[in-house]
Amino acid sequence: MARPKTAFVCQACGAVYNRWSGKCEACGAWNSIVEEAAAAPVPGGGGGVSRALGRGRIVVLEGLSGASDEAPRIVSGIQELDRVTGGGFVFGSVLLLGGDPGIGKSTLLIQASAALARAGHRVVYVSGEEAAAQVRLRAQRLGLGDAPVALAAETNVEDILATLKDGEPPRFVVIDSIQTLWTGQVESAPGTVTQVRASAQALIRYAKTTGACVVLVGHVTKDGQLAGPRVVEHMVDAVLSFEGDSGRDFRILRAQKNRFGPTDEIGVFAMTGDGLEEVRNPSALFLGDREPDAPGTAVLAGLEGSRPLLVEIQALVVPSTLGTPRRAVVGWESSRLAMVLAVLEARCGVRLGTHDVHLAVAGGLRVQEPAADLAVAAALVSSLLGSPLPLDAVFFGEVGLTGAVRPVVHPGPRLREAARLGFKRAALPSAAAEAAGEAGLSAIAIPTLDALVARLAA
Ligand code: TYD
Ligand code: MG
Repeated sequence: MARPKTAFVCQACGAVYNRWSGKCEACGAWNSIVEEAAAAPVPGGGGGVSRALGRGRIVVLEGLSGASDEAPRIVSGIQELDRVTGGGFVFGSVLLLGGDPGIGKSTLLIQASAALARAGHRVVYVSGEEAAAQVRLRAQRLGLGDAPVALAAETNVEDILATLKDGEPPRFVVIDSIQTLWTGQVESAPGTVTQVRASAQALIRYAKTTGACVVLVGHVTKDGQLAGPRVVEHMVDAVLSFEGDSGRDFRILRAQKNRFGPTDEIGVFAMTGDGLEEVRNPSALFLGDREPDAPGTAVLAGLEGSRPLLVEIQALVVPSTLGTPRRAVVGWESSRLAMVLAVLEARCGVRLGTHDVHLAVAGGLRVQEPAADLAVAAALVSSLLGSPLPLDAVFFGEVGLTGAVRPVVHPGPRLREAARLGFKRAALPSAAAEAAGEAGLSAIAIPTLDALVARLAA
């Protein structure tokens, strides 16, 4: 059967159709389908090249040398970055770094490139967005002008691969950004799904055959998706996202997918006039300047990956003038807030049905764990009653639908971090009371949400 010459490709998810339609059935996006030239067969995928590299032969798992060893890695020395990658970049792997434009992706990778180059690795930084002179200028501003990073400004994949094969093979390659790339192998315009996918495929093949570590930069759209190349997420070994409020200084690096490491670790940076600085003590940053005597604030002894993180939860509960009261949440799940409100209402007799409720995680952090339930409930009740919570107390515990306060993972590190920062008491599930004593805090065991409300109202 003859191959169709063109295909209709959804630019949001990469689904392929043989005719145009207004809506993508796969992802539901409207007006996202664009006619593209059908992808040509992948060059270099033929037998000759693969055979010569020893690929496609069968090997026995048992006999693989070094199979039990850790994947060989290249460590940047930037601890906040190395923690998120799982202990350094893995040789022969491809990592995608996503984030909003202007968040600091290029800055982070220039700093990582400079650190690796200074450690003696050959590093190539390919920019499709800025001229080499601009990248050099930025590096100079960051005090990295002397680092032996090779810079190139190119957007054609074949040119980039030729540059990389010229001279000593690099160990670390940055491509900034994947959206600017195009390959002569397909006819679509740069930035389309077909181009992005074909370009990524070529670079992935390069990484796998040479053992170099390749980092692709990807921009994110308004709705938080990696623009166009969501398809790339499935092709690469790791996806990191760089987040933060552009109005604020701090930035959070998070692993969304990682074949060679954990996905729950975060790295915290502050954007300064001299580039990104590591934040080794993020709890102090997120607690900021706490106001004494302010009702509606509770400190959550949280955990991000292996790392304890203390954050302030702020609630404002006010009588509503609206028929349907407002429920506004920043930094937490609104469905989780609805659950805590329902339990307060049904199990504890706290009536919030005629009140507007605003909830925010201070500092713009996004909290995901259910251990925040108890701190959220305490902040809500404190705001409703107009009575501040004790300044020297932290809170954690998961609230069940029955109103029971359930244990959460790793109470020890949470409590030790609280003690280190000068907190004296911890309101927690009964099962964690002993751990509080060991950390040098006095435990306030909260068996049920009802018990918490009774304490706060007393
Ligand atoms: P950049 O790394 O170019 O973002 P991205 O590659 O994700 O688009 O970061 C650009 C922003 O960072 C820009 O608004 C200026 C700011 N910035 C600083 O505040 N300090 C610095 O030292 C640098 C290099 C940039
Ligand atoms: Mg950039």
